[in-house]
Amino acid sequence: MPTFGVLTGGGDCPGLNAVIRAIVRRALADGHRLIGFHGGWIGIREDDAVELTLENTAGIVTRGGTILGTSRFDPMADGEPGLEALRATLRRRDVDALAVIGGDGTLGAARELWQAGFPLVTIPKTIDNDVAGTDFSVGFQTAVQIATEAIDRLHTTAESHNRVMVVEVMGRRAGWIAASAGLASGADMILVPERPFRIEEVCEQLRARHRHGRRFSIVVVAEGAVSQDGAIGLPGLGDRHPAGDTAAGVLTSHPRSLAAPSGIAFLLRDQIEALTGFDTKVTVLGHVQRGGTPVAFDRILASRFGVAAAEAMLAGRLGVMMALRGSRVIAVDLEEVLAHTKPLDPELYRTASVFFG
Ligand code: F6P
Repeated sequence: MPTFGVLTGGGDCPGLNAVIRAIVRRALADGHRLIGFHGGWIGIREDDAVELTLENTAGIVTRGGTILGTSRFDPMADGEPGLEALRATLRRRDVDALAVIGGDGTLGAARELWQAGFPLVTIPKTIDNDVAGTDFSVGFQTAVQIATEAIDRLHTTAESHNRVMVVEVMGRRAGWIAASAGLASGADMILVPERPFRIEEVCEQLRARHRHGRRFSIVVVAEGAVSQDGAIGLPGLGDRHPAGDTAAGVLTSHPRSLAAPSGIAFLLRDQIEALTGFDTKVTVLGHVQRGGTPVAFDRILASRFGVAAAEAMLAGRLGVMMALRGSRVIAVDLEEVLAHTKPLDPELYRTASVFFG
């Protein structure tokens, strides 16, 4: 029986299960067998897999995380012997095509594997929304919603105590979450990796707000933001690391910064307090942004991407990534997509900045 494989790679996010469910539903309807590999690429190397059925994928459209598990294991790390181990599993299991669900690290590996002859299609997911070629990736809208709700809550307590609240959101290389959640929640200042800031200007904005009688402020900062002089920020945080920290022999997470493990929000707080004297508190949202139930937008996008990916495999249209362009889902060449990065849209930042101060 023709067989498709599915895996989720890189950091998890809400909506992955909805993609898996959609691929399974669509491919089963055409008489295909589905195999899910556990823990990303390592599941293929170790031949650790489960058959995906209507039963074990039922009811997962609302569930966060991934029923297959994930890791940041880099399939290219062991060179040709590693690739041969992957090929051996796919041969043994008669896999005709693979559906790879991942962010830019996983998609980069998928492109190399495609070039090395692996039959595959890909689906973009990342809360950071920094995969080029698609308007949105699965998981982003949920992260924005979570961050927005958190900032809304911080607003009321900031106001009661006349405090500056520094809220750190995810985004090592791109400020999509910071700009979107900041705009939605009325942030007074948003700091993103794409626009290095001057701490004196940040503090002057906060002082100006106080002079105009607004005695609290909300500063949203993406984890990869950095000051123009480089003095505030985590050096190297935005670098690409195909392989991350090691836990129990499996590469699982991005390397942490040894220089400033506590994050940019704390560095900012210290500077703001020192330069303005305002009482300043820090909230780091961290992995809460990647947890829990996907919002409806992500469930719908994930389902559309999943069905389109299954149909691309059924049609033998491989080496592509599913993409949302406007309101349409299309398949774009992986090579074309990965030649680009997707920094924050300057127009979005400019719009959000209208509400600063
Ligand atoms: O790439 C998605 C992301 O959530 C980033 O925003 C964040 O910097 C990173 O993953 C955290 O990775 P990990 O969970 O491996 O620490």
